[in-house]
Amino acid sequence: MSQKTWGGRFSGETDNRVEAFTESITFDRRLYRQDVAASKAHARMLAEVGLLTADEAARIATTLDVIAAEIERGEFPFSVKLEDIHTHIERALIERLGDVGRKLHTGRSRNDQIATDVKLWVRDAIDEMDGRLLELQRALLAGAERDRAVVLPGYTHLQRAQPVLAAHYFLAYVEKYQRDRDRLADCRRRVNVLPLGAAALAGTSLPIDRESVRRQLGFDALARNSLDVSSDRDFLLEYVFDLAAVALHLSGWAEEWILWSTTEFNFVALPDAFCTGSSIMPHKKNPDVLELIRGKTARVVGDLHQLMMLVKGLPLAYNRDLQEDKVALFDAHDTVAASLELAAALVRETRLNRDAIAARLEDGYLDATTFMELLIARGVPMRAAHEAVGRLVRTCEERRCRLADLPAEVYDAVRPGLGAEVYNVLGVSNALAAFRSVGSTAPAEVAKQLAYWGSQLAP
Ligand code: ARG
Repeated sequence: MSQKTWGGRFSGETDNRVEAFTESITFDRRLYRQDVAASKAHARMLAEVGLLTADEAARIATTLDVIAAEIERGEFPFSVKLEDIHTHIERALIERLGDVGRKLHTGRSRNDQIATDVKLWVRDAIDEMDGRLLELQRALLAGAERDRAVVLPGYTHLQRAQPVLAAHYFLAYVEKYQRDRDRLADCRRRVNVLPLGAAALAGTSLPIDRESVRRQLGFDALARNSLDVSSDRDFLLEYVFDLAAVALHLSGWAEEWILWSTTEFNFVALPDAFCTGSSIMPHKKNPDVLELIRGKTARVVGDLHQLMMLVKGLPLAYNRDLQEDKVALFDAHDTVAASLELAAALVRETRLNRDAIAARLEDGYLDATTFMELLIARGVPMRAAHEAVGRLVRTCEERRCRLADLPAEVYDAVRPGLGAEVYNVLGVSNALAAFRSVGSTAPAEVAKQLAYWGSQLAP
């Protein structure tokens, strides 16, 4: 009898090159736990509906556990001759149980089996990723609390714009990763719909009980349409898009801290353990981890692109193309998992160079906009106030000084009496204290946000 699960129709051996080309065992062996779990649930259901005896189902379950343990210990032989993880496990079952093992695949196809295995895997992957994002959020929150009183220059176009509290800065990323977690939770709802029972594409004439399998495997619902679900990989597009969004968030932050670690900025001191040196320049300390977090984002976006192109133009229902989905899925998952782990560690171990930040905080007119808002509050039309402050900044440029260095007469010339009150709003700490809108960097607002995230992210 052929080694293949589909040998009956064929005469002669498969070409070696075809075996090597079509195998997936080199990557889908990662699904063995899910494959065994789904098979055990399937076998139990088959016994419930009378397609197996209780004893047969029990022997299948026990033997599947033995096989899983062997795989776990690295004692299980894999071969490209057996194509994929499903065939390996079924073949091993048949070797051990004979005809009882030959009954397991009753009412099932590898098409609904692989869709189920991958969904089980992605469900766990989402939960793992959520935990990793939570860890990073906690590291950011710790930074926000540690540096809550530190003032940073805020940038737009990478030009100095307005002052922000460091706590506000750290919490900005907490928000982004929260949206990433929310997206994953939403994706999980669509992942958690059971394909098994769709069989090859049309369902089965055998009296299977999909509801039993659903309950056993903890799915929320049964897929309504066998033709759809046996070919559906939307959930992978979503998961990998969600990973790409995480990677993109990480890449922006990495870029920021790479800049911040330069002599030019000198805002952060990166821990030695997270940097590497140069083979020729003895003084170098390079932010390689951050650079690779930024660089690996390209892989994740590439994985997403690969998956989108994979499903493009596929007719119903299962097509072998879909086997390639796992290559992109695993790569994206592993890459983002590793990036998140290192990002959390880096955030935990890196310190702001408070003195260096403070030393140049009064550069760049961070107070100009708040000063303009004082004029507006005194009744000057916004556009006129903008124009007036713009002119004063030009005067400062000429005199190489700050707004707070200009004499009172200059301000009185803009508006009588302004010189008497303007120094209470000029300067970065005055400007910062003046903020008040909801969600702003106002110290009272940031305190609220810190309290909110403190309770949200508490263990
Ligand atoms: N290894 C296959 C995959 O990953 C399993 C399904 C194979 N189905 C088939 N009809 N050849 O998609």
